[in-house]
Amino acid sequence: MKDKFVIQGLSGRKTLSGKIKVNGAKNAILKVMASSVLFEDGIEMKNIPDIEDVKRLSELLGKMGVVVSKKNKGIYSIDAKKIKYCELDREISERIRASIVLTGPILSRFGEVSFPVPGGCVIGARPIDFFVEGFEKMGAEMEFKNDRYYIKVKTGKKLKGAEIFFRAPSVTATETFVMAGVLAKGKTVLKNCAIEPEIKNLADFLISCGAKIKGAGTSTIEIIGGGLLKSKGKIYKAMPDRIEAGSFLIMGALCADNLEITDCNPNDIEILIEILKDAGVPLEIGKTSIKIKGNAKLKNKDFKSIGFKTKEFPGFPTDLQAPMVIFLTQATGESLVFETIFEGRLNFVEDINRMGANIILLDPHRALVKGPTSFRGREVESPDLRAGLAFIIAGILAKGESIIDNVYLIDRGYERIEERLQKIGVKIERIS
Ligand code: EPZ
Repeated sequence: MKDKFVIQGLSGRKTLSGKIKVNGAKNAILKVMASSVLFEDGIEMKNIPDIEDVKRLSELLGKMGVVVSKKNKGIYSIDAKKIKYCELDREISERIRASIVLTGPILSRFGEVSFPVPGGCVIGARPIDFFVEGFEKMGAEMEFKNDRYYIKVKTGKKLKGAEIFFRAPSVTATETFVMAGVLAKGKTVLKNCAIEPEIKNLADFLISCGAKIKGAGTSTIEIIGGGLLKSKGKIYKAMPDRIEAGSFLIMGALCADNLEITDCNPNDIEILIEILKDAGVPLEIGKTSIKIKGNAKLKNKDFKSIGFKTKEFPGFPTDLQAPMVIFLTQATGESLVFETIFEGRLNFVEDINRMGANIILLDPHRALVKGPTSFRGREVESPDLRAGLAFIIAGILAKGESIIDNVYLIDRGYERIEERLQKIGVKIERIS
């Protein structure tokens, strides 16, 4: 069913207040779930939010005989004892890009893997050349027929360790080959790896279950292949979602007087904190929380507009680009936003301009944002998960009512977002 959100805007008033808790990180959890294929027994996971992508990946694993059971609030157990090889289901794997990371564990455990062309999403083409080239270097060969990739190691041998240099730091490619290396024969060396915190979070858990991985979180990672892993009841606790934390922080800067963002890791969004502090947002940074205090006495036009460029970690995260553009539409000045990672990730600006923003799209990667501008509520459709949250922020600060269609995309990564926002004073309802 196509749910919608209806939001009554605050017309620029800063009335949100209270506490909002950050959930476990979607982009860490999905990869740990995929790593269950590397295990002889199974894995226990906690701090797992109730989001669509977790449900989709559970279904995908279920088709391979991996039993994913939700024990109670946020606790999952994944039993891989009865896993059997099968081709990745097209309908499900096209819906979540993260399913691509399953190729590493499946190929290294079963010697073959078959998957459809991953669903390109609106933020840009999502090539998988790094994956195909890397598997070929590890002794597999790829065939493409009836819209599916078939990758097999040559005549029943196991994947063998190799040296792989990524032409660009790719998050899911790095994670996929760390997992492929765990069961491959011999040593795998990965160079020019992505260094996002989710990668170290995954590796630390695998190491605690016996994997031999060195260098995760740096650009060179070494993996010594061995047998199936055994968790022996070790529990994976999901790290806080840095993109959720950053989105709530930007929302608070624009619409809250006193707001505390709890259960987060400020170190993972240092660059956003620095930019918002330089813009004039009153922040107090704790060990696991961020407080916005006495913000109502400031108007958003008192904030300085500061341009930014998205970069791989520790640069400005592309997943926070859309919410940050909303911030710049309210601050005073003219700033350039340079989206260096994806070519389709600025398309949402035309909908924001229809709400009253003054953003000029210079080319698919660069936009000029002039502020301050006042927003009027409109009906908009969220094009992707992260722009969806930017539309919610725009709807909250606007004058009048906004309707956001296709909130499935938002539910993919944010658990019952409307209930959590109602608790801090947002007038938002879900209608089916
Ligand atoms: C991950 O996507 C995240 N997804 C994305 O979050 C995030 O935006 C992105 O990293 C960048 O931080 C998950 O972790 C599930 P990439 P990923 O491979 O791994 C090029 C969200 O909203 N590339 O790091 O798919 C690619 O074109 C999502 O949660 C190749 O050229 O991104 C891009 O320019 C959106 N060939 C660059 O690498 C390849 O084979 C980085 O993309 C693979 C990637």
